[in-house]
Amino acid sequence: MTHPVCASLDHPLFAFGGKRVEEVKGKAPLCEAERGGKRSEAGVSKLVSPVSGFIFAFLNIKAFSIQSLSLPAMSKTITPYHDEQATKKEQVADMFNNISKTYDFLNHFMSLGIDIIWRKKAINELKNDKPKLILDVATGTGDFAFEALSILKPEKIIGVDISRGMLDIAEQKIAKRGLGDKFGVKLGDSEKLPFEGAEFDAVTVAYGVRNFENLEKGLADINRVLKPGGKVVVLEFSKPKAFPIKQLYNFYFSYITPGIGKLFSKDARAYSYLPESVAAFPDGQTFVALMDKVGFKNTKCRPLTFGICSIYTGIK
Ligand SMILES: C[S@@+](CC[C@H](N)C(=O)[O-])C[C@H]1O[C@@H](n2cnc3c(N)ncnc32)[C@H](O)[C@@H]1O
Repeated sequence: MTHPVCASLDHPLFAFGGKRVEEVKGKAPLCEAERGGKRSEAGVSKLVSPVSGFIFAFLNIKAFSIQSLSLPAMSKTITPYHDEQATKKEQVADMFNNISKTYDFLNHFMSLGIDIIWRKKAINELKNDKPKLILDVATGTGDFAFEALSILKPEKIIGVDISRGMLDIAEQKIAKRGLGDKFGVKLGDSEKLPFEGAEFDAVTVAYGVRNFENLEKGLADINRVLKPGGKVVVLEFSKPKAFPIKQLYNFYFSYITPGIGKLFSKDARAYSYLPESVAAFPDGQTFVALMDKVGFKNTKCRPLTFGICSIYTGIK
């Protein structure tokens, strides 16, 4: 069923790529926010509102071109460079190698710092579990792992990533902060994690699953390396459904993000790939169903900030 707010705006122009959400997602069951369980995050809303005001004004001026505000609807594999000779994994690794030096700055700049709040919320999902050994998959420059170290105080975190460039930055940060005994990184692929089975108390992935070449395989391998009773926490962008957040979000991702990316990053394609990969990602209950399929129990989806981002959790 379409969300009531969306129903009143049930026009192709207000949906991804001119398609209704149900068509894109194959009528997936509703997740928490879609059922009306939205959470108010006053602090975040305050941060968002000035930017929203600006974007809204801009939207009015550009009303004639509103159709182009929709993110593309895709179910096929989205790759950074549309290069048919290279796998998605190779292209993703290349892309993150190219942007590794500007990644941290652009990450916080483009999200107006809200990503830090989202990371904290995701890590807090593990607070009661008190994990001793954590694996951070797609650790990148290590920001999620550093946050987990400071909040959860585990004995050790190991980060794996397919991008050497991103790990180099993580290693520099580890050395600078003197955390070498607590946080170590390793080149590794989510679909073939370089660990024995049942090793970790918890596995985390922040903004990584969207980039996996084979999502199901990646989730299954995460399940394999978790101890029985261990918990996975995934943080990923999702697609808000309610007006006007959905339109603002599509506008921001379609115009602002690639624009800022072009200005500050050596690899402009990376910031066009971002909205494309978010549009194609099977978010909400579709992702939860995939977690169930690979064997996770007690799976949950918790949307944040109007569904711009979601936290997914599951137990082995
Ligand atoms: C958007 S960054 C997120 C980095 C970090 N987790 C954070 O929160 O800032 C995505 C990372 O996923 C990594 N990645 C993509 N596919 C992967 C895979 N199959 N296995 C491991 N890492 C992967 C990329 O190299 C990149 O560093």
